[in-house]
Amino acid sequence: MSSMHLVITTPAGFEYDGIKEIKEILNGEVNVRTTYFRGLVLGRTELRKRDVLEKLKKADTTYISRVIPAGELVPTDIQGFIRYFELNVDIRGKRFAVRCKRRGNHQFSSMDVEREIGTVFREKGGTVALSSPQILLHIDVIQDDSVLSILTPDEIIKKTPKVVRKWEKGQRPISRAELKMREILERFPEMFHKDFVVIDIGAAPGGWSRAMSSRVKKVYSVDNARLDCDVTKIKNIEHIKCRGQDLKLDIKADIITNDANLLHIQSAKLSADVAKRYLRQGGALIHTVKLGTVPQTGVLAAKSLSHAVDEVTAEFKKLFNIKSVLRLRYNTKMEKTIIAVKRD
Ligand SMILES: C[S@@+](CC[C@H](N)C(=O)[O-])C[C@H]1O[C@@H](n2cnc3c(N)ncnc32)[C@H](O)[C@@H]1O
Repeated sequence: MSSMHLVITTPAGFEYDGIKEIKEILNGEVNVRTTYFRGLVLGRTELRKRDVLEKLKKADTTYISRVIPAGELVPTDIQGFIRYFELNVDIRGKRFAVRCKRRGNHQFSSMDVEREIGTVFREKGGTVALSSPQILLHIDVIQDDSVLSILTPDEIIKKTPKVVRKWEKGQRPISRAELKMREILERFPEMFHKDFVVIDIGAAPGGWSRAMSSRVKKVYSVDNARLDCDVTKIKNIEHIKCRGQDLKLDIKADIITNDANLLHIQSAKLSADVAKRYLRQGGALIHTVKLGTVPQTGVLAAKSLSHAVDEVTAEFKKLFNIKSVLRLRYNTKMEKTIIAVKRD
């Protein structure tokens, strides 16, 4: 069965809450990701359109503004849009409307797209009826990609979000991961001190580093990937562009954090190795256990998340006292966070 795209909008700043909500409504049978654009997330599901619409219409939601069950994800190109609609809809004798929502930088406006496509389909025998169309040709332009949908107006799910707050200036998270660190900072403020040095492994795009930077003296952000430009501007953050395994520093750290997307055992060994070399006695480790699949086999790397956590804690007990195993609000279903302290 072919999968269906979902174009989901949320109030800006609530994208991750919207993702959680949509996953709950569709019982996890959907993959959802954020886009470069605030308030816009994209989903993909194998469920039937009818079932998706029914579940969404019934659900009492907080963070969702609108969901469009969409047809195809294509490169942004107006002639390509026309070809797609020509192939997939017979417009003769029908009342139709073209709606385009454009996001990003382009030479054309949303109205240009609507006019050009409208003209072609009027010539093909359709009647433009903006207020009472039988068929909607819907285009969401998302910079270089566009999502095309052929719908009836009642297939667009509109909800009134129960939240309107946007992130305060400077509070918008750089990544979902940053929200995990914000929760830790809030729940365990005593772990951080203005004289502390932190090594943050798997730091990019820099949410954890940024969140910690105002509470400690220095953060070494270790990752081969780039840090967000807002993070590179922060004076007490230094980007060490390498893998954690290749780290060479001449310092002692008070805290080591590790949110790298590695298999759980690999990541645990990396934390332990970096802690052996750089963490002072009594220093803390904040480590995300991530249950993922082994790339070569596609099989989960442990039977369950709790098995993965057991394997990681067994590794850590050689060097640390385990303080907490947490399910943070922004941990995914496949993650838990361990806080441990290096033994004296
Ligand atoms: C989920 S992201 C981390 C998000 C980050 N904590 C934040 O708040 O923005 C995982 C990162 O782990 C990095 N990574 C994967 N393997 C790594 C390794 N061996 N050493 C260092 N970083 C690694 C990836 O490049 C990626 O940027």
